[in-house]
Amino acid sequence: MIEALRNLEKEARDEVTLATDAKVLQDLKVKYLGRKGLFSSLSSRISEAPPDQRRDAGQEINRVKLVLEELFQNKERSLRSVSSVSVKKLDTTMPGTFFQPGTIHPLTQVVMDISRIFQKLGFRVVEGPEVETEHYNFEALNIPLNHPARDGFDTFYFENGKLLRSQTSPVQIRVMEKERPPLKIIAPGKVFRPDATDATHSFMFHQIEGLMVDTDTTFAELKGVLHAFAKEFFGRKAKLRFRPHYFPFTEPSAEVDVYFEKRDAWLEILGAGMVHPNVLRAVKIDPEKYTGFAFGMGVERIAMLKYGVEDIRHFFENDLRFLRQF
Ligand code: PHE
Repeated sequence: MIEALRNLEKEARDEVTLATDAKVLQDLKVKYLGRKGLFSSLSSRISEAPPDQRRDAGQEINRVKLVLEELFQNKERSLRSVSSVSVKKLDTTMPGTFFQPGTIHPLTQVVMDISRIFQKLGFRVVEGPEVETEHYNFEALNIPLNHPARDGFDTFYFENGKLLRSQTSPVQIRVMEKERPPLKIIAPGKVFRPDATDATHSFMFHQIEGLMVDTDTTFAELKGVLHAFAKEFFGRKAKLRFRPHYFPFTEPSAEVDVYFEKRDAWLEILGAGMVHPNVLRAVKIDPEKYTGFAFGMGVERIAMLKYGVEDIRHFFENDLRFLRQF
């Protein structure tokens, strides 16, 4: 009897191992553990066993019953988990799932293109904070208290006296405060002005500041650098025009236009000049020994001119029909 039970256990094990779906397993369970199944008919024959063997036979019956129950339970569980994951066949001839790759925002592209050109000319890219103090945004830049730019209509102020920088020029100060000449840096970033939004104005836009300070930096060098930039960015035939202008932190100062053949027009792209001696003094650089030039260009304006974008708001509205063109 004990031998018959062990044979039954082995057969059940073999068959259950080979079962590959729930239906087959269910049939096997009926066959072995059903009310009229092999196990039950075998164990009912315990009464036929000789009395001195019944105790051992009883123990074996209990053991095999537990083994079989566990065998079916485990197999049921493993079939369930397999079917929920990946028994569905993989069809390698199906087309794949296509993800539309993103693109770099046109303004970021223009910042990267301009930065690359200046890096080739030996300028290092640095960044400064968007939340600034009056000291960096105005005072150290030689902008007096009564200057209109310091008015609440022209600059966003926080209640604690800080402000959103209205130009990237404060980065000039932050760099010159920490480092000594020779210096050649550009500083791209966001600036903020409380202008009403229209086709050419946005309360947030981007500038790229430039600064060079050395023992013999001249206005001629400023012109050379800006011409080199314009020819590289707008094309070999690009022409620049320097118009006299006023900025508190440069002297002399100029506004610079680039000539667009297509429109037969001169269009302003940046402000520039020689760093004012008061600015150098504020950062403890001796203006008798060092001179420098600085410039600040408007990124949106340059991007609009280069790509013929008519409305600045296109850059900020996240319309993919616009963004995918770049
Ligand atoms: N910060 C000036 C502006 O925002 C531009 C500028 C930068 C002019 C550096 C001269 C030198 O208009």
